[in-house]
Amino acid sequence: MTPPRFGYSNACGCGAGQGCPARARRRPHPRMAAANDELAHRARKYDAMAVMHASVTFHDRRAFDSAAVRYLNNFVKACMVDAACRCLCRRGGDGGLRVAEVACGRGQDHSKWMYGCRAAGTWVSTYFGLDLSSADHSAALAMAAKFLGRHGAEVRIQTADMGVAVWDAPDGSADVVSCQLAMHYLWDAEDHASHFFQQAARVLDSAGLLLISYADGRSVVRRARQSAGAVRSRFYKLEVPAECSALRLKSPFGNRYVFTMPDSVESVPEYLCHEGSLLKLAKREGFVCGLSMYFDELALRLRKLPRFSELARRMGGDGLDGPDRQDALDAANLYRFSVLARTPAALQAFKNALSF
Ligand SMILES: C[S@@+](CC[C@H](N)C(=O)[O-])C[C@H]1O[C@@H](n2cnc3c(N)ncnc32)[C@H](O)[C@@H]1O
Repeated sequence: MTPPRFGYSNACGCGAGQGCPARARRRPHPRMAAANDELAHRARKYDAMAVMHASVTFHDRRAFDSAAVRYLNNFVKACMVDAACRCLCRRGGDGGLRVAEVACGRGQDHSKWMYGCRAAGTWVSTYFGLDLSSADHSAALAMAAKFLGRHGAEVRIQTADMGVAVWDAPDGSADVVSCQLAMHYLWDAEDHASHFFQQAARVLDSAGLLLISYADGRSVVRRARQSAGAVRSRFYKLEVPAECSALRLKSPFGNRYVFTMPDSVESVPEYLCHEGSLLKLAKREGFVCGLSMYFDELALRLRKLPRFSELARRMGGDGLDGPDRQDALDAANLYRFSVLARTPAALQAFKNALSF
């Protein structure tokens, strides 16, 4: 089970220290209780989504209202995974690729790792996944058996909070650590975001790659300012409090807004993820960022590469060419993809593999 994010022993920040009345009654301070409730609420939302998706076929999913933006985002992720597999397999070694994915969800990216490795002439030898949602855990295991297990990957999946738990993977045991569409959940508190980078640095091989993507705080705020807080598009809804849209922020952390995407998540609290603080925390653990772009910019650039044109046709679909193109690109512009590493050589190898 997910360990609680806050407990009696954590400083709650109410200023009363040991004298905090909630602490004396051995109850979490109301601020901590609220944070725990929110984490449980988010896990329930993703659990419900996993249950809903369990009875939905691939063809049903194509008819989802949000299909165009999902396909577009998946196209970008598939290209980035493909490039990571190509450059990491070139590092030598014939032992296969060791993948660690946090916030792995229901295993949405398992097939991408399998196909990426296959195209690079390698395979996934070990896969470590971690997610908050326990319903996602069983779905991810089933996906892993379908896509990774049959090629002999050793699979381990942990149900935990990535911003608090020690990731259940040995030091230096991954060639690549990936956290897709989820970094923004860590921006509730600096401790959680910095814990992520500490764990990533521990688990990642020193010449490995860290691939992350997140809803970009700047992009959220820009939309909120244009629409007085409540942003509605064909593909998403954002409810952004006035202090966030007016940028009266006390800190880069803890700036909460609420996100909804049809057929996906409804009213899930997220946090403005601020690129400056992200790069600072990453740097503290020795990471340098070699590439950082919005999903729409990436999609448009990647589709021009001959290597990805077939993938763009199959996965980009309506998102790139159909009647929903403009709305899908606008939704993709909410998200940013960044590639980090601890050696310039690893970043250069990634860019070469991507032909950027
Ligand atoms: C938008 S989904 C992305 C899933 C998958 N990575 C993808 O790209 O499709 C966000 C995922 O983050 C997980 N998540 C949210 N907060 C988390 C936390 N604190 N620790 C671990 N996982 C978390 C959710 O359970 C959910 O599976």
